[in-house]
Amino acid sequence: MTIITVAQRKGGAGKTTIAVNIAGEFTRRNYNVALVDSDPQASACKWAGLENLEFPVYEIGLDNFTIGNWVQEVRSVEADLVVIDTAPSERHLGASIAVSDLILVPCTASGLDIEATEQTIAIIKAVRGRRSSPLAVVLVPNDTEKVSVWFPVPATGYFPVRVRCGDLE
Ligand SMILES: Nc1ncnc2c1ncn2[C@@H]1O[C@H](COP(=O)(O)OP(=O)(O)OP(=O)(O)O)[C@@H](O)[C@H]1O
Ligand SMILES: [Mg+2]
Repeated sequence: MTIITVAQRKGGAGKTTIAVNIAGEFTRRNYNVALVDSDPQASACKWAGLENLEFPVYEIGLDNFTIGNWVQEVRSVEADLVVIDTAPSERHLGASIAVSDLILVPCTASGLDIEATEQTIAIIKAVRGRRSSPLAVVLVPNDTEKVSVWFPVPATGYFPVRVRCGDLE
């Protein structure tokens, strides 16, 4: 079993969005995937309730377990690839990172996010120091508020404009 955690100390950085989307993408590529939602907000579970996701989403709330029992619960999930969506607390991040093979750290360009990313990396380093197995980390540049699109402008060619995601729908 391979376990991927999407980790970031800052709330609203895109953890749930990335977790659901990479689980969907690996499913599309024929991996046997499950998503574990350890966040008491249960956003990924709510997402699964709204959309017909093609992979199972299990609510394994860390608040209901000791960390050791929570790890056992996660490892008992029947899937080749488990993606964990966590809450941004140190306890949630520490437990999820400890059980994972790969950490994805979404980071936007704002100052607060960069500081939170430093805190996230500090937790990853602390967990790394306590384990012998390798732990890969990938920083994922993300923009949770806007996306760039290009509109044609007859006289001046193309120029970039930034619009909210919802405006594109
Ligand atoms: N790449 C993106 N482009 C546009 N909107 C995004 C992107 N990623 C996330 N969002 C939006 O940003 C908001 C926060 O995203 P999300 O819920 O995934 O963050 P989170 O890190 O899981 O938050 P929390 O810490 O509260 O669990 C949501 O409204 C989501 O739709
Ligand atoms: Mg979330």
